[in-house]
Amino acid sequence: MQRIEEKHLLVTRWTHWVNFPVLFLMIWSGLQIYWANDVYRVGALHFFPQWVYSLLHLDHSLAQGMAIHFFLAWIFVINGILYAAFTMISGQWRQLVPDRKSLVQAIKVTLYDLGLSKEMPPQGKYNGAQKIAYTSIAVMGAGSAVTGLAIYRPIQLSWMTSLLGGYPAARTEHFLLTMAFLGFFVIHIAQVVRAGYNNFRSMVSGIELKKEEAADV
Ligand code: HEM
Repeated sequence: MQRIEEKHLLVTRWTHWVNFPVLFLMIWSGLQIYWANDVYRVGALHFFPQWVYSLLHLDHSLAQGMAIHFFLAWIFVINGILYAAFTMISGQWRQLVPDRKSLVQAIKVTLYDLGLSKEMPPQGKYNGAQKIAYTSIAVMGAGSAVTGLAIYRPIQLSWMTSLLGGYPAARTEHFLLTMAFLGFFVIHIAQVVRAGYNNFRSMVSGIELKKEEAADV
C-alpha cells in the first residue's frame, strides 16, 4: 500500500524553480563578463581555454553579459530573500539546517552512495549530506550577492569591498563561489537522478508517494 504525503510547500517549489533558470543565466552572463578580463590561471594555463568561450559563444559579448547579469542579480536576490524568509517563518528550517548528527550521517550517506557501505543511514525529509549541502548553498547564495555587490559598486560600497579584502579578493571570492555552485549543481542533479521520479515529482507537485509501514501486531 502507498499513501500520499505533502513534502514541499508551494513557496519552496516556486523559489526553487525560479532559481534554476535565473542561476543558469547568471553563470552564463557572468562568463560573458569574465571573458573580457580572464585573469585566473591554473599554473600557466587559462582557467577557461579559448575554445570553451568559442564553443559556447561566450566571447565578444561583454555588454550583453553585463546587461543580463546586473538585471537578473536583483531577481536572484529577491528570490533568495523570499526563500530564506519563508523557510524561517514556516519552520521548514528545522528539517534543513544541520544538527550534531549531520556530519557523521553525511559521511555514512557518501559511503553508501559510493557503494562502500551497505548500511543506509536513517532518512528524515533530508539526510545529513542534504542538510549540509542545502544550507551551504543558501549561505553561498548570500555570499555571491554580497561579493557581487562589492565588485559592482566598489566606490559607493567601499566599506563592503574592504571587509572582503579589497577589489581583487572580492572578485576572486565571487568567482570561486560560482565554481562551487557549478560543483553543487553537478552533484545535485546526479543525486536527483539517483533518487528517482517520485522524489523529482515532489519538487514539482509538492506530494510524494510513501510506502505504508507494516502495522505492528
Ligand atoms: C534541473 C535542475 C534542478 C533539479 C532537477 C532539481 C531538483 C530538486 C529536487 C527533486 C529536490 C528535492 C530533493 C528531496 O526532496 O530530497 C531539490 C531540492 C533542492 N534544490 Fe534543486 N534542482 C535543480 C536545481 C537546483 C539549483 C540550481 C539549486 C541552487 C543552486 C538547487 C537547490 C536546491 C535546494 C536548496 C533544495 C532544498 C529545498 C528546500 O527543501 O528548502 N536546485 N532539487
